[in-house]
Amino acid sequence: MKSRISEKFRTLFGHDGEFFASAGRINLIGEHTDYNGGYVFPGAVDKGIMAEMELNGSEKACVYALDLDECVEFGFEEEDIPQQSWARYVFGVCREIIKRGGRIGGFNAVFAGDVPLGAGMSSSAALESTFAFALNYLFNLGIDKFELARIGQATEHNYCGVKCGIMDQFASIFGKKGHLMRLDCKTMEYRYYPFNPAPQGYRLVLLDSVVKHELASSAYNRRRESCERAAAAIRKNHPEVEFLRDARKEWLEEVRPVISEEDYRRAEYVIEEVQRVLDVCDALERGDYETVGEKMYETHHGMSRLYEVSCEELDYLNDIAKECGVTGSRVMGGGFGGCTINLVRNELYEGFITRAKAAFKEKFGHEPKVYDVVISDGARKLE
Ligand code: GLA
Repeated sequence: MKSRISEKFRTLFGHDGEFFASAGRINLIGEHTDYNGGYVFPGAVDKGIMAEMELNGSEKACVYALDLDECVEFGFEEEDIPQQSWARYVFGVCREIIKRGGRIGGFNAVFAGDVPLGAGMSSSAALESTFAFALNYLFNLGIDKFELARIGQATEHNYCGVKCGIMDQFASIFGKKGHLMRLDCKTMEYRYYPFNPAPQGYRLVLLDSVVKHELASSAYNRRRESCERAAAAIRKNHPEVEFLRDARKEWLEEVRPVISEEDYRRAEYVIEEVQRVLDVCDALERGDYETVGEKMYETHHGMSRLYEVSCEELDYLNDIAKECGVTGSRVMGGGFGGCTINLVRNELYEGFITRAKAAFKEKFGHEPKVYDVVISDGARKLE
C-alpha cells in the first residue's frame, strides 16, 4: 500500500511527503454503551488507512483517494463542504480542528486503506484519525490524543449525520499492539489489557456478512434517542443518573409504566451490557475464556432481541457458531449488517469456517468474508 501511495504522490506532486497511518478496530464487548457513558473494550487492528501528506502553502486541501481514483480540492470554510462522502470526513476533521482554534493551511494528500467498508470495523474512524493525527503533526497544533478522537467523533456528528459515541475514534487513536483497551466513556479513564489468546488455545476471527442494511445511521441515532429518553425518566427519581450507565435495573423498573416498551427494552440491554464489559475484563484476567465467550453470546442475544440491531444474516452466523461449539460469538459494532466477532478454540477453527461459509452461501447466495484478528497499533507517523 505504501509504495502505491508513494508512486501516486510523486506523480501528482513531484516529490515525497510524510506518511501517517491509523487503524480500524474490533470490540470484544460493550456495544452501544459508549454514548451511554458506559464501558467499551476495543482494540485497533492491522487494517487501516495510510496517507502521504505535505503542506502546499495554499489555502486549499488537495486530497486524492487512491482506492477510488478520485481527487477532491476544497477550502476550509463551512460552505466549501465537498460532495463526495469520503471527502466529507477529511473536510469535517479540518473544520473541527479550526473550530477548536487550530490554525491549518493548505495540504496535499494521497490516501488508501484496507479496512473493509461497511463491515463495522470503523473505516471512517480510521480515516478521521489519520487526518486528525497528521494535521496535528504537520501544523504543530499540540492537540492531545483525546481531543483528536473527539475531533473525529464531532466530524461524524456534524458532517456525516451519525451521533456516534467515542469508541471508534478512541480505539483508532489509542490502539496498542497486542492490547485491548477498557475505556470508561463517562470519566474517559482507560486501561490497556494484554490480549493474547493463542497460548491458551483460542483465536478471534471476524465473519463479515457483507451486507449493510439501509438507513443504519438513522436507526443508530434513534437507538441513542431511546436511551436518552429512558435516562431522563430515571433521572427524575434519581438525579445522579447522568447517563444510562449510572442507572440500576430496579430504577429502570420504576419508570417502566411511563416510558415506551421499546425504550424500556433498549435501556435494559444497555444496563446489562455495561456490566458484561466488567465481567469480561475480570474473566480475562483469570484467563477464563469460557466466561468471556458466554458473555459474548449474551450480548448477541441482547443486541438481537432487545436492542434490535442485528439482522437475519448475523443471527444466522451466530446460530452456526453455536452449533459448531464456538466459545463466543456476537454481532460487532453498530449492527444492521457487518461482522460477527467469534472467539474460537484452535481445534474448532477450520471446521467452523468451512461450515459457516457453506451454510451461509447456501442460504444467502454468497460466502461471508473471514478476517483473522491481529491487534495492532493505532494512529502514528510512519518512518
Ligand atoms: C458505532 C459507533 C460507536 C459505537 C458502536 C456500537 O461503531 O461509531 O460509537 O456506538 O457503533 O457500540
